[in-house]
Amino acid sequence: MACTLPPGPPLPALAQASLIWWDPVRFVRACHQRYGDRFTVRIPRIGTLVYLADPDDIRSVIRGDPAVFHAGEAAEPLHQVVGRQSLLTLDDGKHRRSRGMMLPAFHGEAVRRQIAEMAAVTADEVAQWPVGESFPVYPRMQRLTLEIILRTVIGVRKESRLAELRSALPPLLEIGSPLELIPPPRMLLRFGPWRRRAQRRAAALALLTDEITRCRADSRLAQRTDALAMLVRSVDGTGAPMTNEELLDQLITLLLAGHDTTATALSWAFERLTRHPTLLSRTAQAAADGEDAWLEAVCKESLRVRPVVFEFGRKLTAPVHLAGHRIPAGTILTPSINLVHHASRHYPDPDEFRPQRFLDHRPDPALWLPFGGGVRRCLGATFAQVEMRTVLREVLRRLELSPTTAPDEPARPHHVTMVPRQGAMLTVHRRLDAATIRASLHDNQRTQV
Ligand code: HEM
Repeated sequence: MACTLPPGPPLPALAQASLIWWDPVRFVRACHQRYGDRFTVRIPRIGTLVYLADPDDIRSVIRGDPAVFHAGEAAEPLHQVVGRQSLLTLDDGKHRRSRGMMLPAFHGEAVRRQIAEMAAVTADEVAQWPVGESFPVYPRMQRLTLEIILRTVIGVRKESRLAELRSALPPLLEIGSPLELIPPPRMLLRFGPWRRRAQRRAAALALLTDEITRCRADSRLAQRTDALAMLVRSVDGTGAPMTNEELLDQLITLLLAGHDTTATALSWAFERLTRHPTLLSRTAQAAADGEDAWLEAVCKESLRVRPVVFEFGRKLTAPVHLAGHRIPAGTILTPSINLVHHASRHYPDPDEFRPQRFLDHRPDPALWLPFGGGVRRCLGATFAQVEMRTVLREVLRRLELSPTTAPDEPARPHHVTMVPRQGAMLTVHRRLDAATIRASLHDNQRTQV
């Protein structure tokens, strides 16, 4: 059978790329309306993408043979930011080896040990929020999630060191224009955004390398609970540890994949809650009572209705059969998280924010996929969800937020994520007094992971 691709817009590749960068939500939704659950889009220097919105197709992608469905190759443009040995850009045996070495640091038990630190960082952050004036919460969430990663993933404790990293890392993680992710012709590497990225990278890498050296030499290495210490201690099937170069690429990966994504997810949760006063007070009550199941449902529904990452990719190393097509090798199959999450046949009134959908209900992994799926599912999915619940709980225990009648904030693309256009404007109505907070405080360690 000859290879065939699903239909797609008959525009030149450059025009398709411009439309997708200009307004990805609109372009992908328009294609979906016109061509249905599978359609083909072409982007110069990235390739041919087949978007998928049918859960059966998506199941066959996430359960497919990882040797054929290459996520690392699909993420190739990211290697300029995260390095050649990043978990994100590896495939096959190298990916299995690194993922196996990294998993224990992100398992439930390891994440549970970080809850108290997450809560303490949140308490410090919210103490600085103004009362009675409107402010965008997204930059505050970026600061907060970076601080949590610095302390719980890299294990930094010293204030002077934290200050250095706080200023050096954000520029490293700021990809800027999507154009920067397109592999440039070699001669361009000395100019423009690519040259600036090389300089930013060098300064931040020096600091991170130093953290790795200090961690290896730390006399308390065996007792440390941060992810870096666990990575330094881990060995592969042959007993070999990660090299410094590998550790460095994985640290950048964890910073990049774990910081802005969670900040965005939290910002959307606040944006949604403040537009639903009844749900806001229900959630504040759940925070005060330590009712984790409700907080979990709020986070899950927020990630459904406002997914942070809109799609994920698998580049085919061999042709595959999918819904009557024989898709050629080299194509990037692209399950669309956003389209699946907004299909009314899976979620009645899909644009409505209804945490009740997820109360005591385990979602089908092909219908709820904010963290992707299969052997490449987000390594930090548990960490991110625990962090979201902890931050929500600590914010709502300390502050009374004002509901708003402002229109919903539209999503705007911000490198690999979709963020609230106005930064999720928030107003704190009043600060709750210490006695009220103490009365509602439950032991953080009791929170379920
Ligand atoms: C709400 C926050 C987050 C969202 C929405 C998110 C989403 C995703 C998605 C969609 C993928 C691709 C999965 C696939 O291809 O199937 C991914 C991969 C990944 N994420 Fe996350 N992520 C979040 C937080 C985090 C955190 C906190 C960390 C670590 C600290 C992290 C580390 C990673 C890593 C290392 C990968 C690559 C996994 C692999 O290729 O094996 N993420 N994430």
